[in-house]
Amino acid sequence: MHPRDRFLYIVVPLGVLAVFTTMLIVGRTVEPARYAIGYAPQQPIPFSHQVHAGANRIPCQYCHTNADRSRDATIPAVQTCMNCHTYIAMADSNIIKNAVVARLQTDAPMKWKRVYHLPDHVFFDHRSHVNSGVQCETCHGNVKNMVVLTRTMDLRMGACLECHRNPAPYLPPDSPIKKGPTDCTDCHR
Ligand code: HEC
Ligand code: HEC
Ligand code: HEC
Ligand code: HEC
Ligand code: HEC
Repeated sequence: MHPRDRFLYIVVPLGVLAVFTTMLIVGRTVEPARYAIGYAPQQPIPFSHQVHAGANRIPCQYCHTNADRSRDATIPAVQTCMNCHTYIAMADSNIIKNAVVARLQTDAPMKWKRVYHLPDHVFFDHRSHVNSGVQCETCHGNVKNMVVLTRTMDLRMGACLECHRNPAPYLPPDSPIKKGPTDCTDCHR
C-alpha cells in the first residue's frame, strides 16, 4: 500500500475512532451527574421519599406543586416541610431540629443536589407530560420506595424519542395522543 493511502484508510479512521472513544469515556466518568442511571448524590439532609411518599402517602404534588402547571415540578421550600414538622414529634428529632429548623431560622434555602438535569439547549416541560397522563414513575421510577432519590431515567435524546415515537404504552388507554414531537426544533428551541 502506498504510504499516503495507508495514512488515509488506516491512520485517519483509527485516529478519529480514538478521539471519539476518549470523549465518550471521559464524558461518562467526568459527568456521572449528567448520564449515569443509578446516580444518587448525597443530599444536605437525609430526606426520604420512602418515608414521605411511601409510608405516609403524601401525594407527589403536595411538595412538587407545579408539576402539572409549569415547566419545572419544583423542589419544595423549607416552609413546606414546616407545615408538618412544626407539629410532628419526630422519632429522630435531632435531624429536623439541627437541619430543617436551623435552616428555616436562618432563612437559607436548602442546597439540594439535582438528580435530573438537562443541558440548557434542551426544552422540557412537565406540564404537557403530566397532563397527557404520563405518570411520574414512568420517568422517575418507583420513588415511593426510595430512601435516597436515585436516577432511573437515561437523560439522552434517544430516551425522549423512544417514547415520542410510540407513547401509547405509557398513556391512559383512552388517550387520543398517538405521537410526541420528533422535530429538532420541538426540543431544541
Ligand atoms: C416524561 C418524563 C417525566 C415525567 C412524566 C415527569 N418528569 Fe420530572 N423530570 C423529567 C426530566 C427530564 C427532568 C429534568 C428537567 C430539566 O433539567 O429541565 C425532571 C425533573 C424533575 C424535578 C427536578 C426539577 C424540577 O423540574 O423542578 C422534579 C422535582 C420532578 N422532575 C418531579 C416530577 C414529578 C413529581 C412528576 C409527576 C407529577 C414528574 N416529575 C413527571 C422527566 C419527567
Ligand atoms: C405532609 C407532611 C410532611 C411534610 C410536608 C414533610 N414531612 Fe418530613 N415527615 C413527615 C412524617 C409523617 C414523617 C415520619 C415521622 C415518624 O415516623 O415519626 C417525617 C419524617 C421526616 C424525617 C425523618 C425520618 C426519616 O426516617 O427520614 C426527616 C429528616 C424529614 N421528615 C424531613 C422533611 C423535609 C426536609 C421536608 C420538606 C422537604 C419534609 N420532611 C416535609 C411528614 C411530612
Ligand atoms: C414531603 C415532600 C415531598 C414529597 C411528598 C415528594 N417529594 Fe420528591 N423531592 C422532595 C425533596 C425535598 C427533594 C430534593 C431532595 C432529594 O432529591 O431527595 C425531592 C426530589 C425529587 C426528585 C429529584 C429532583 C432532582 O432532579 O433533583 C424527583 C424526581 C422527585 N422528588 C419525585 C417525586 C415523586 C415522583 C413523588 C411522589 C411519588 C415525590 N417526589 C414526593 C420532596 C418531596
Ligand atoms: C414516556 C413518554 C415520554 C418521554 C420519556 C418523554 N416525552 Fe415528551 N411528550 C410525551 C407526550 C405524550 C407528549 C404530548 C404530546 C401531545 O400532547 O400531543 C410529549 C410532548 C413533548 C413536547 C411538546 C410539548 C411541550 O411541552 O412543548 C416536548 C418539547 C417534549 N415532549 C420534550 C421531551 C424531552 C426533551 C424528553 C426527554 C428528556 C421527553 N419529552 C420525554 C411523552 C414523553
Ligand atoms: C424529544 C426531544 C428531542 C428531539 C425531538 C431532538 N432532540 Fe436533540 N437532544 C435531546 C436531549 C434530551 C439531548 C441531551 C442529550 C445529552 O445530554 O446527551 C439532546 C442533545 C442533542 C445534541 C447534543 C449532543 C450532546 O452530546 O450534547 C445535538 C447536536 C442534538 N440533540 C441534535 C438534534 C437534532 C439534529 C434533532 C432533529 C433530528 C434533535 N436533536 C431532536 C432531545 C431531543
